[in-house]
Amino acid sequence: MLPLDCFAALAMTGPELRLCPPSLKRGRPFLNRPKGFPMNVLLIGSGGREHALALALTKSPQLAKLFAAPGNPGIAKLAECVTLDVTNHAAVVDFCRLMKIGFVVVGPEAPLVAGLVDDLDRAGIPAFGPTKAAAQLEGSKGFTKDLARDFHIPTAAYGRFTTKAAALAYLDTHPAPIVVKADGLAAGKGVIVAMSDTEARDAVEMIFGGAFGEAGAELVIEEFMEGEEASFFALCDGERALAFASAQDHKRVGEGDTGPNTGGMGAYSPAPVMTAEMSARVMREIIEPTLIGMKARGAPYKGVLFAGLMLTKDGPKLIEFNARFGDPETQVMLPRLQEDLLPLLMQCAQGHLRAEPVKLSDSTALTVVFAAKGYPENPQKGSTIRGVEKAEAMSETIVFHAGTKREGDKLVANGGRVLNITGLGTSLRDARERAYAGLNVIDWPEGFCRRDIGWRALK
Ligand code: AMP
Ligand code: GLY
Repeated sequence: MLPLDCFAALAMTGPELRLCPPSLKRGRPFLNRPKGFPMNVLLIGSGGREHALALALTKSPQLAKLFAAPGNPGIAKLAECVTLDVTNHAAVVDFCRLMKIGFVVVGPEAPLVAGLVDDLDRAGIPAFGPTKAAAQLEGSKGFTKDLARDFHIPTAAYGRFTTKAAALAYLDTHPAPIVVKADGLAAGKGVIVAMSDTEARDAVEMIFGGAFGEAGAELVIEEFMEGEEASFFALCDGERALAFASAQDHKRVGEGDTGPNTGGMGAYSPAPVMTAEMSARVMREIIEPTLIGMKARGAPYKGVLFAGLMLTKDGPKLIEFNARFGDPETQVMLPRLQEDLLPLLMQCAQGHLRAEPVKLSDSTALTVVFAAKGYPENPQKGSTIRGVEKAEAMSETIVFHAGTKREGDKLVANGGRVLNITGLGTSLRDARERAYAGLNVIDWPEGFCRRDIGWRALK
């Protein structure tokens, strides 16, 4: 990382001054540089998702130079990683002006919910991602449930509660199985699928007892839905949406989908259950009414809309929305993208998304998360990881960094989800073999992974 004052010297960037050439690993970069100057882009975030975004962005002929704040050691091979306090929006704006940033891509939800895109908009700096008001689709489960009710979007029946007494009274007439959710952002931990009445009551006590702080000042209790889960992503420009891709994640830490919830232990794309017909139905019944509803609420939605779906016997139903790309879903969707990502993201921000379908390869991608032992409760940091280069050298295999850090010439674990090993193949089986073959050459005894990623689809 370079300190901020070193950047003045780098301000005059162009393709010839790019410090790190784009990785050509996934084939040639896209040709046909469009008219106009290539631009500098700032990517916000530090996970595997952002590494996948960085890899896709650096293939763009429209990119001059990529900056990442804060980035990670994998991203550092593609971009200039900078120390920037992204909660200080004025500092981000100043950096963008200094470095002549033409476009900002926001990876994670927290800066979106905090209104970073609003402040960039006010400063005239185009950015990918929803405004604070529109990011409520992720930031408040109650907001989303009310929107679904008002715009006839299929979802589980629900109630919203701000007092423990009212929530417990609702449980008297709504027996388990039932789902209790903290309203706000709770790092994926705020959802309790209660299989017994006692569990449901305990969840209410825990949330109103302050387990999730402000995020649990309100809660949603909703009907338990049965079916297969899938993640669906659509690009949105405020008015219109374009289907992007589908994926399936593995949220539980243990094999066979057991143990506590995590940010995601592995994923594959496409999701076989998301047929063309199902995708069209989700666009029609869930995504499009959401855009209409958000416009009507005075908060038009721009960015990527990530719908967590339950495919029930009555059709697809919304579990929740996220206002950003998924992690690790992005690590399997972007390697399938057969076109330049940057103009697609820019069209979302500019409000004129094209109608032509997104070009994705027919291949399947599967990623396995290599996590630090102890994750999700208490991941052990500081152990040394060896052999990543061996995995990177394998064909149709990409290693995305997440919680890693450089210490001298050593790569060390610095978080819960540490690496993602993605394999590409003509079938799920093929992609899975590649991903695990890559993981197996990495020497990291302090890491663990699920060995069954893809099991449902392969069953
Ligand atoms: P969320 O954070 O809202 O995606 O919820 C986490 C997980 O809880 C989901 O991936 C589902 O497996 C489960 N879940 C959430 N809501 C429901 C529901 N209404 N019925 C059944 N399972 C649910
Ligand atoms: N993998 C789930 C998420 O990104 O929220």
